Amino acid sequence: MVPVVVGEGTLERVVEQPADLHPHVAGEIGGGEHADHAAPYRRRVREIRLAARPQGWPTAETFEMADVPMPEPGPGQLLVRNLVMSVDPYMRGRMNDVKSYTPPFALGEPLDGAAIGEVVSSPAGNVPVGSFVVHGLGWREYAVVDAGRARVVDAADSSYLGVLGMTGLTAYVGLVDIAQFREGDTVFVSGAAGAVGSVAGQIARLRGAKRVIGSAGSDEKVRHLIDDLGFDAAFNYREAPVRKQLRAAAPDGIDVYFDNVGGEHLEAAIGSLTKYGRVAMCGAIAGYNETSAPAGPRNLALAIGKELNLRGFIVSNHNRRMPDFLADVGPWVRDGRLRARETIVDGLENAPAAFIGLLKGENTGKMLVRLAS
Ligand SMILES: NC(=O)c1ccc[n+]([C@@H]2O[C@H](COP(=O)([O-])OP(=O)(O)OC[C@H]3O[C@@H](n4cnc5c(N)ncnc54)[C@H](OP(=O)(O)O)[C@@H]3O)[C@@H](O)[C@H]2O)c1
Repeated sequence: MVPVVVGEGTLERVVEQPADLHPHVAGEIGGGEHADHAAPYRRRVREIRLAARPQGWPTAETFEMADVPMPEPGPGQLLVRNLVMSVDPYMRGRMNDVKSYTPPFALGEPLDGAAIGEVVSSPAGNVPVGSFVVHGLGWREYAVVDAGRARVVDAADSSYLGVLGMTGLTAYVGLVDIAQFREGDTVFVSGAAGAVGSVAGQIARLRGAKRVIGSAGSDEKVRHLIDDLGFDAAFNYREAPVRKQLRAAAPDGIDVYFDNVGGEHLEAAIGSLTKYGRVAMCGAIAGYNETSAPAGPRNLALAIGKELNLRGFIVSNHNRRMPDFLADVGPWVRDGRLRARETIVDGLENAPAAFIGLLKGENTGKMLVRLAS
């Protein structure tokens, strides 16, 4: 992949060239014409649907592009031209036909997820045309959104989908509320170069952690964690057993583990946690494409003697913490003490490749798809 850095300052935006991103996926989805947003409703626009439920890894066949008539907003609704959409690991779970904390995606129906767009029609006039809104109907060029479910923001700033949005809040809630982080803690974060992990590790550093350790899947990401994000230590989990590398990075053990990965990482962390250690169970991405249930951490019984606290959470149940999060973390983002990178893929037709790339670790920071500018 040849990333092109298009932004400067604390928010680095890296545009991935679609041809470099899974060429076998990019471009294989049939496409319609790009819609002209000034055009009337007779125009046709594009959306991506779930074509098949993946067994294991999603592939190009998981998705289908559909041409549909421009949707028309009803009373109390907005027509939004989507500009940027988010791809997130939880979407993989929603492709399975299983009951979870969010309902599964329906076969043959458009996928959904967070997006930011511009209001192009607002019949009730309650949200002015030209406003930018964050909403939940990504994976399509135009969305009809209930005005009550759209959050007006000051700019079409993709950080509202990442560091100042759901993923940033996840890092904050997980570290502060769930893991009960305290100044002087030694903190280990897995998936540390990703959207949530990179913010969690930096919040720990900025709130006075004794030591912050991260794991990631490439040497380049390890360098990024130490040189750009200020982690005290980091390692490439693909190179040697996590248990061994974590022991070397934290010889006195860890007090907090922010778990984005599960599996071998969780087992290693349980081994390294000190007495009364705390774990925020945020995600378990190592198992999302597995076709059989993963073995639990073989050393879970250590949690008894060490009196560990392992606690899961779902960020959408903690939205009330958004104002505190923005008050605490917003200034760090603005003044550059907390850095956030974005990996941006261009074009709705490349959203499936971006999503699969996310699961494979092709992103650094938040993975986003730019639909229009
Ligand atoms: N609980 C909640 O409410 C909540 C909310 C948001 C996200 N999450 C969870 O938080 C985690 C991170 O989400 P995100 O949005 O920030 O995604 P992300 O970390 O930006 O992207 C996913 C990353 O996972 C890593 N990964 C993939 N397979 C792996 C494996 N087998 N072992 C170790 N790492 C692997 C990849 O990085 P490498 O190159 O380092 O492998 C990839 O970049 C996910 O588990 C997600 O489900 C939970």
